[in-house]
Amino acid sequence: MEVQLTAPNGKTWTQPLGLFINNEFVKSSTGETIASINPSTEQEICCVQAASAQDVDAAVKAARSAFRGPLWRKLSGTERGALMHRLADLVGEHAELLATIEALDNGKPYAVALSENVPEFQNVLRYYAGFADKNFGQVVDVGPSKMAYTVKEPLGVCGQIIPWNYPLDMAAWKLGPALCCGNTVVLKLAEQTPLSMLYVAQLIREAGFPPGVINVINGHGREAGAALAAHENVAKIAFTGSTATGREVMKLAAGTLKNVTLETGGKSPLLVFADADLELAATWAHIGIMSNQGQVCTSTSRILVQEAVYDEFVQRFSRVIENVSVVGDPFDPSTFQGPQVTRAQYERVLDYIKTGQDEGATLALGGVPLGGPLSADTDSGKGKGKGKGKGFFVAPTVFTDVKPTMQIYREEIFGPCVVVAPFKTEDEALAMANDTTYGLGAAVFTRNLVRAHRVAREIEAGMVWINSSNDSDYRVPFGGVKQSGIGRELGEAGLAAYSNIKSIHVNMEAS
Ligand code: NAI
Ligand code: MG
Repeated sequence: MEVQLTAPNGKTWTQPLGLFINNEFVKSSTGETIASINPSTEQEICCVQAASAQDVDAAVKAARSAFRGPLWRKLSGTERGALMHRLADLVGEHAELLATIEALDNGKPYAVALSENVPEFQNVLRYYAGFADKNFGQVVDVGPSKMAYTVKEPLGVCGQIIPWNYPLDMAAWKLGPALCCGNTVVLKLAEQTPLSMLYVAQLIREAGFPPGVINVINGHGREAGAALAAHENVAKIAFTGSTATGREVMKLAAGTLKNVTLETGGKSPLLVFADADLELAATWAHIGIMSNQGQVCTSTSRILVQEAVYDEFVQRFSRVIENVSVVGDPFDPSTFQGPQVTRAQYERVLDYIKTGQDEGATLALGGVPLGGPLSADTDSGKGKGKGKGKGFFVAPTVFTDVKPTMQIYREEIFGPCVVVAPFKTEDEALAMANDTTYGLGAAVFTRNLVRAHRVAREIEAGMVWINSSNDSDYRVPFGGVKQSGIGRELGEAGLAAYSNIKSIHVNMEAS
């Protein structure tokens, strides 16, 4: 159930491989495993147990008996918060190792995993730990002959299905509010990137969470994910991933009328008005699409630029990409962009690039695979790769003169690939921005304060960034409108999805 691993940076550790149920790592009932691949080298790292529907059932049973048992149920909010703080501490103590695992399994730059993802896990847990004893009901004044009050109750067993782009952070966003409110959890990891959270599972046990409170399982979406979404003893499903899978999850959850929150896809616009600080816009436009290998649901992947500054913006934007987007080995400190997470994602991005060319968009930058920064036979980084070597590397890619009818303008690509299109007026910019089935994020660049706030109100999106892109803060609600999702995570709003309000009526005239 475990294997000894060593990463290219010399870190060595014992990697758990089992399904974490009732605080034990166990084998899957079928013996099926899933290989985890290093996307920089395409080599197998190790094989992890894959949960069957039967294993999901065992995990749900464990979570249900933990939910009903005294070890968890009898804890005060303060005590639950203390356990969460302890887990955040332990994650901090293992920060370098967890960042190493992310770089190896996901392909994220090590420096980013260490400075952003691991701290985010801790921050989210601590934030919700703080809420654990500050989240309570009300007394409602209904006159002297009666009394009424509300209590907030946990929902029960929460099924949580997370994607591969932020294995640690997506887990924390879902565990934080669930544990805060006193629920128990079955967390299904993304089958592409299970290793970091399986390592954290040991820390969950070490932190002192009672058995069954947090169960962490790896498994295929269609089998383990679907079994969790459909399970009759799961009270709630929280999902992050594609809109198509979100739709499936909602259908499966409908069978038992589960409470559902979904955080799905996007094609978020970034609007650059002629009066904007163009260097600032170029800098954030780069962060907004090229961070995390372009694998971000809120990526501002559709850049709309007012005609008067279109050429100048494209020039500045391309220069920022060329200067900052160093593609290469995630363990090299100079790397900004590692490989795409899997061969499937790599091919998907390259297919979209081909589609864009076929559709007649102008390929202004990139557009090629950059194989092999780690192999000897190719050049590395800065767009010089020849595409011959190993690894799922794609050059940062910009399409210009993109028409709103084109597939690359309308569909989520989920890679380092962005489309740029011109607009004439504010009204046209808004119409173009809102001409999408998605509504996750939106960015607006202007020096005109009134316009900035007006546009922020008119854009159909769950989040708007004024003169920046992709800000995310655990204290601020996160989520989408339209087909980008249902419900909110993070902030106080994130708690709403994890408790029921029970109303208690008391007859004060009874003797
Ligand atoms: P996906 O949405 O299919 O997978 C996300 C999670 O859902 C994984 O844990 C997966 O095992 C699970 N899952 C898959 N099918 C399921 C089912 N029938 N029932 C229950 N759970 C299921 O995403 P995938 O295939 O990995 O990536 C495809 C595209 O999805 C990407 O190219 C990207 O456009 C989008 N995506 C969006 C993400 C976001 O943060 N909004 C994250 C990952 C992918
Ligand atoms: Mg992997």
